[in-house]
Amino acid sequence: MPACIQHLHFIAVIGVTPSFRVASRFDYNQDKFHNAALLGLKRGIFIYYFIFIFGFFMSSQVANPAANSAAESNEVAKAYAQPSANKQHLILTGDRPTGPLHLGHFVGSLRNRVTYQDQYKQYIMIADAQALTDNMDDPAKVHNNVIEVALDYLAVGIDPSKSTIFIQSQIPELTELTFYYMNLVTISRLERNPTIKQEIILRNFERDIPAGFFTYPVSQAADITAFKATLVPVGDDQIPMIEQTNEIVRRFNRLAKKDILVECEALVPEIGRLPGIDGKAKMSKSLGNAINLGASEAEIKQAVRNVYTDPLHLRVEDPGHLEGNVAFTYLDAFDTDKEALQAMKDHYVRGGLGDSKVKARLEGILQDMLRPIRERRQEYEKDRGHVLQLLKEGTYRAREVAAKTNDEVKAAIGLKHF
Ligand code: TRP
Repeated sequence: MPACIQHLHFIAVIGVTPSFRVASRFDYNQDKFHNAALLGLKRGIFIYYFIFIFGFFMSSQVANPAANSAAESNEVAKAYAQPSANKQHLILTGDRPTGPLHLGHFVGSLRNRVTYQDQYKQYIMIADAQALTDNMDDPAKVHNNVIEVALDYLAVGIDPSKSTIFIQSQIPELTELTFYYMNLVTISRLERNPTIKQEIILRNFERDIPAGFFTYPVSQAADITAFKATLVPVGDDQIPMIEQTNEIVRRFNRLAKKDILVECEALVPEIGRLPGIDGKAKMSKSLGNAINLGASEAEIKQAVRNVYTDPLHLRVEDPGHLEGNVAFTYLDAFDTDKEALQAMKDHYVRGGLGDSKVKARLEGILQDMLRPIRERRQEYEKDRGHVLQLLKEGTYRAREVAAKTNDEVKAAIGLKHF
């Protein structure tokens, strides 16, 4: 029972006292004294009863902050990209540096991070070590894209004085934690991870799966827990990684008999995945259907020209279809004038509105949106040394946090000798 509830006993005593004071006036009348005493006692019992109920209610609300915050963060997860403000969440998120970032990243994560950095403590990791788990044949690609991804972060407005941006491979404690956590996960559990299953098929690994790739969910658990992150903004394909992370957290804490590691929640963006310009479900560099954040004006123009619309909409007067029409999917994502957009949709469906008009609107919006991003990117690009310095400082700060958790973990499992 919380301390404040205990104080209520005091109030109950006060509740009894007046009755006895009344009683003292009837000192010479035993009967009346007894009546008054009985009344006091009854009142006391009533107040105690009330306090018991109230205390019960309060203890389930106040005395259990863990349950409380779990309930609240559940709401956060349901609210997707809009977690409640003034909550002491700590965010960790990351990207594999395998190519420059594109509009899909912008919609799904980057623009949210710009908002989160004003509300929470936020760590953003460039996961170069994880990128190597399926790119060991091309380490130069991963190396070169570290700075490209950093440029994209800075260009969209991620502010290194608000968010800590760091490079995964420069924090050896993350690798160390991975090695310990590896013993808290079984091969059969790893095999059951649906995203890994999918990715193995997608990469045609068959049985030749790099062990590092197969176990990357464990490394991801290390990334998350090293910072004691409570919120992890990721795409829905990463939800199994969060589940696996929490299993590791629970196992470890049970083993340590102490809550050293912290469970986290996935924060999945409201707007799902952005399709590629070709209409394929996913915008991706490797599919060649992406619009990069650093795209030039001409590249944006060309990309919009190639955007997949409605193959049945042959003549202007034909009624058009919105389902699977990428031009409208993009407008839904980026057009802030929802009324005008609705009018345009109605006209399109009715017939009489050509694709070129829709695309002109889309192009205008994308050009306006990407212009400042491109310009800021170009500014930062002029001084890559400065960008590297920012990454170095972020990495230094992040390493201090990860090292502290690593120390706690090692101490808990008997790996502290001197
Ligand atoms: N696997 C994530 C992705 O492909 C990247 C990543 C690595 C990550 N470590 C992370 C994301 C930790 C969130 C938290 O998108």
